[in-house]
Amino acid sequence: MTGSLNVALFGSKFMGRAHSNAWLKVGRFFDVDPVPVMHTVVARNAGEVDQFARRWGWQHSSTDWQAVVSSDDIGLVDIGTPNDVHAEQAIAALEAGKHVACEKPLAGTLEDAQRMAEAAQAAAGKTFVWFNYRRVPAVALAHRLVAAGALGRIYHVRAAYLQSWGGPETPLLWRFQGDVAGSGAHGDLNAHIIDAVCFVTGEEIVTVEGAVEHTFIEEREILAGTSGGEIAGAGAATAGAKGRSTVDDAVLFLARMSGGALASFEATRLATGYHNANRFEIHGERGALRFDFERMNELHVYSLDNDPAVQGWTTVDVTRAGSGHPYVEAWWPDSHGLGYEHSFINQASDILTDIGGRQPPFALPDFADALQTQRVLHAAIESARNRSPVDVADI
Ligand SMILES: NC(=O)c1ccc[n+]([C@@H]2O[C@H](COP(=O)([O-])OP(=O)(O)OC[C@H]3O[C@@H](n4cnc5c(N)ncnc54)[C@H](O)[C@@H]3O)[C@@H](O)[C@H]2O)c1
Repeated sequence: MTGSLNVALFGSKFMGRAHSNAWLKVGRFFDVDPVPVMHTVVARNAGEVDQFARRWGWQHSSTDWQAVVSSDDIGLVDIGTPNDVHAEQAIAALEAGKHVACEKPLAGTLEDAQRMAEAAQAAAGKTFVWFNYRRVPAVALAHRLVAAGALGRIYHVRAAYLQSWGGPETPLLWRFQGDVAGSGAHGDLNAHIIDAVCFVTGEEIVTVEGAVEHTFIEEREILAGTSGGEIAGAGAATAGAKGRSTVDDAVLFLARMSGGALASFEATRLATGYHNANRFEIHGERGALRFDFERMNELHVYSLDNDPAVQGWTTVDVTRAGSGHPYVEAWWPDSHGLGYEHSFINQASDILTDIGGRQPPFALPDFADALQTQRVLHAAIESARNRSPVDVADI
């Protein structure tokens, strides 16, 4: 296949910027086929989205996603909108014959996620979900090491996604509204580490043995208009009244994995002192691995194959192209450091590779994979509310 692919992006804020940057840069750093064309960006505010289009180089802007989704001009619909609209936008795009790349969590509710996976199965277009952390070189390397048997049988997994922006001063953004977000830290952050752990270990989560969820801050300032800047709504005007937060601030759960490993997961936006600590530790019979996104260019490796006299954790700088580190060949000379945005650009490259009919270097999550993650999220909430274990197969 040699050609181009017209992309329509829905959403022009946080993910709107991350995805625009990815479509803009991917063809400069990777040899892609098809080549993406930044055709149309869609958001709710006409003035804002028009300005956004000009800034990022989108050819058109619109506030009418239904018209864009059915346009013959569009080949790929990229969804970066809040969770409650993923289903209707993705299903409409699939029914119109488009490929769809959707942000995580797949949806706010299990029912929406199921409908999306069913639509994907019936559609001609391909589906992708932006579990972008798979494409952080250290995480992809961890996957490769486990697949090569470096850890042997896996005994323990410890995963946590710790942020701290959700304190009482943060207003009632959509992320705190259950009917829009579906859940709080759980769907936002546990979704990422469930996907990452399954990707790295090659195992599924089969049972949630127990869970707790908690809402520490029950009321937040209602917004007066726009949602303000950045993820925590800094600078947003508030209405001088409070409304109920209807999502969790933190969810912790314990799980068993298909290979027999025991795993713990923790997601919170109230981990004072941590800002984006997306981390996992994996212990196996031959060695161990640990990763923390706050030090994203490092993977810590422990191997029992090393001489006992020098056994210890090794900090691997994963930005050495000559060492075969995933994705870094497309970037800079050894040890010139990569960032958050590179994971999206790497994923954009793999999406284009897949659409072009070739094999990406690492598995891309599709709607069926993301539905499995959504089932685990749902099982954890059931487990917390019923105070009992839940088999994911029963969800
Ligand atoms: N992969 C990641 O690391 C990551 C990080 C942050 C957010 N996300 C996910 O991305 C999605 C968007 O999050 P965000 O932080 O960018 O949100 P945001 O609030 O910053 O931006 C939402 C955008 O969607 C637009 N929008 C809302 N409803 C719409 C509609 N009906 N039609 C068209 N446009 C609409 C808004 O105008 C805005 O431009 C969520 O699903 C979130 O979970 C993923």
